[in-house]
Amino acid sequence: MKFEALLEVAAKSAEKAYAPYSNFKVGAALLCADGAVFTGCNIENSSYGLTVCAERTAVFSAISEERRDFIALAVVAVGEYMPYPCGACRQVLNEFCPGEFSVYVAKVDALDDYEVIRLSELLPHGFHL
Ligand code: THU
Repeated sequence: MKFEALLEVAAKSAEKAYAPYSNFKVGAALLCADGAVFTGCNIENSSYGLTVCAERTAVFSAISEERRDFIALAVVAVGEYMPYPCGACRQVLNEFCPGEFSVYVAKVDALDDYEVIRLSELLPHGFHL
């Protein structure tokens, strides 16, 4: 799958976001080596700290299906802000992906203007046991 198509899948997933508190809808699409794609959206909660980001929803969905072979992640947001993964999501990605893993980030209204960032750039010195 081309990365432009992965961004389109992430944009579709953003439509499923439950974000009544921030009104910031985010979708993620995680590409596996065999072409399988696992999606996620952000899911907020009245108890704000329980919110889960789109990236972690996608990663946990894939891991719960026993997948490990991740190629790239696309993250797309509805609105004016770029959905750069938060610190918690960077550490979760670090658990399962190598430093050269690519994260594609874009706004839904400008998918062509995506940025590609390596996990090692997002999280230098990520923690491992
Ligand atoms: N959010 C994501 O889902 N992914 C990101 O990359 C940035 C932030 C969500 C969490 C929360 O529901 C909302 O965006 C505002 O922080």
